[in-house]
Amino acid sequence: MSWMLQNERIIPRGDAALSYLDRGYCFGDGIYEVIRVYNGRMFESGPHYDRLKRSLREIKLELPNSIDKLNDYLEKLIEADKLDDGIVYLQVTRGVAPRAHAFPPAGTEPVLIAYTSEVSRPFETMHSGIAVITRPDIRWLRCDIKTLNLLPNVLAKQESVEVGSDDVVFHRDGTVTECTASNLLIVRDGSIITHPADNMILHGITRLVIRQLAQHLDIPFVEQPITVDEMMKADEVFLSSTISEVMPIVQIDGVNVGGGQPGPVVRRLQAAFERYAGLVSQG
Ligand code: PDD
Repeated sequence: MSWMLQNERIIPRGDAALSYLDRGYCFGDGIYEVIRVYNGRMFESGPHYDRLKRSLREIKLELPNSIDKLNDYLEKLIEADKLDDGIVYLQVTRGVAPRAHAFPPAGTEPVLIAYTSEVSRPFETMHSGIAVITRPDIRWLRCDIKTLNLLPNVLAKQESVEVGSDDVVFHRDGTVTECTASNLLIVRDGSIITHPADNMILHGITRLVIRQLAQHLDIPFVEQPITVDEMMKADEVFLSSTISEVMPIVQIDGVNVGGGQPGPVVRRLQAAFERYAGLVSQG
């Protein structure tokens, strides 16, 4: 049987009772997290909880239970589902109330749900690299909040699927921001360069891990805006996320980048990531 967490209870997924008046459903009024599970254990849960708390604070919402308690529940869920490799998906909405834009009455309980999914590591694409397309970033100006409102990301991702590409790199007036569900980084003259962690991008946990790894590997990590033109001419281009890890990009808008194959810095980061996460090498 598969299980899920609904506020204070771990229940069979079939017993989930979610309301059509849930504000997450009506307004996208909520936030979420995706935490990797490797070998039955959550990876970088601390930074994910910190980001969760920040997202909640920014939308003026409080967690129904403490982080410690939440962590206990999530560990129980992983155990109940016998999950080895996958993710925990977690979301918190502003609860159930008659539909009105302003916040619901004080005392309305937030709705927290979490469930696990089996997700294998993307060995094939991590090895070969992926192709992406560029599109204007039409999202709002608080992309640092991990909000449930993902419509621009959904539409962009679908466009990439329809043209046979793997993802979209967003840009605002020619400045690269990030991808539909990952951060974008380039390598130029031996340095890793990526957009500053401001309001224009999600502050990715994998991006943070890469920053630490780069420090250990003595690779400069520079946070500064990159133009689309600079990205196209970069020595290496890659994206990072909980699900994609360190993913080389070898083609953008039909043009080969970084020589059309994964470069040496990406390879070093992939190996360092595996060591750091205690993973078996891809061989
Ligand atoms: N997405 N940027 C965006 C817009 C994202 O949605 C994500 C993660 C990231 C990378 O963050 P992290 O390294 O913490 O996963 C960057 C998750 C995986 C998702 O929506 O499924």
